[in-house]
Amino acid sequence: MRLADDERAMLDGKQGAARQKAMDLLVRYGEALGAERLVDTNNVCATVSATTPFVRDYAEQRGGGMDAVFSEFSLDSAEVVEIPRVKAYTCHVQQGIDPEHAAEQGIAPQIVRLYREGEAYMGRIGVQLLNTCTPYQVGNVPVKGEHCAWMESSAVIYCNGVLGARTNAEGKESAGAAMLTGKIPYWGYHLDANRLGTHLIQVEVEVTSTADWGLLGYWIGEAVQERVPVLEGIRQVPNLARLKHFGAAAASSGGVEMFHIAGVTPEARSLEEAFGGRKPLATLKYGAAERRQAYERVNSTARERQVDFVMLGCPHYSLEQIWEACQLLEGQRLHANTSLWIFTPSAIKQIADRNGYTRIIHDAGGVLMTDNCSAFGRVMPKGTKVVALDSAKQAHYLPAIMGVQAWFGTTAECIEAALTGRWSGGLR
Ligand code: F3S
Repeated sequence: MRLADDERAMLDGKQGAARQKAMDLLVRYGEALGAERLVDTNNVCATVSATTPFVRDYAEQRGGGMDAVFSEFSLDSAEVVEIPRVKAYTCHVQQGIDPEHAAEQGIAPQIVRLYREGEAYMGRIGVQLLNTCTPYQVGNVPVKGEHCAWMESSAVIYCNGVLGARTNAEGKESAGAAMLTGKIPYWGYHLDANRLGTHLIQVEVEVTSTADWGLLGYWIGEAVQERVPVLEGIRQVPNLARLKHFGAAAASSGGVEMFHIAGVTPEARSLEEAFGGRKPLATLKYGAAERRQAYERVNSTARERQVDFVMLGCPHYSLEQIWEACQLLEGQRLHANTSLWIFTPSAIKQIADRNGYTRIIHDAGGVLMTDNCSAFGRVMPKGTKVVALDSAKQAHYLPAIMGVQAWFGTTAECIEAALTGRWSGGLR
């Protein structure tokens, strides 16, 4: 791999042991990927193993504190090095707990203490504590062409497809090395050629609601796996929430990290631009039958109609989605046997508090939570067997991770289930 002078200096240890380890990791990683060089990045979204109990146990046993955790789990270094402040602007993705609602989530005070310590450490080294899978909802909005190093599949596909910024789905180690060096291997979706469409998806039905966009994404992910779909036939421009749910679903049923919508997304002013003049590898139709197929697939675990738990906010809810949910909840009361948790970034929750939305949710019997989600943190109300969700991504993962049945539908159907304790949704 060709290294620039500043990269060579870091590799030679001229900027300290931690940056030397980070650069060594990036060079090994880049060479394994066939990257010819690195590229500058000043936008990293990453997780640091600050709060994971087994990681902290390990670190405490061997000594070295949080620097040992970072060395081992973010820099792949058994030798403990002192971690300096980050070079690249770095935001933390979701954590595994909401410290303000630890008791509801069944999280012990000892874990909350570890979380607080870990968060203080990350703050000290300059990591921005956004603690969300949707950094683009709370101020981290990279511009078209900006090179990023992001983790979290739903954020990655949004970054590439919707914003036209450039990232691969990074791991904890490459993102950890990127934050210390401001570099990332120049391969994959950093390169023009890899961003071009591969599959044409002719959409023949109206796609309007957020749930519809989730279904479309779920179907496309299964159909194209890790390729780059280009959607044609979208008549109503989707908003942030719809694109967010679409991408999250496509990245769950498949491994989609980039997509285009002709006439909508920034690198697809036309179909020709989306494909870069190349012919699609395949053309697929999405009509009523495909929509039903996706619906049945997402709902394949659901049998019992009595709903114990409604979870909203995967990916983390926007303020607009909270506002919509509150209009359905205001003045109502949840069914006695059903819980409602809504997840959002903590920055949005502050506005929700001021707008009175947190109070509306609370008065109905629900909780507005931050920093976490059920699938990531493996947290649900005790005894949950049947869940209702408006996220195809969460419906994909939660049954596999937690062994529950999952109903997927619209936000209104989910809130109806929270109020009545029963699922009465269906494909309309
Ligand atoms: Fe975010 Fe959890 Fe969904 S991390 S995308 S809310 S699975």
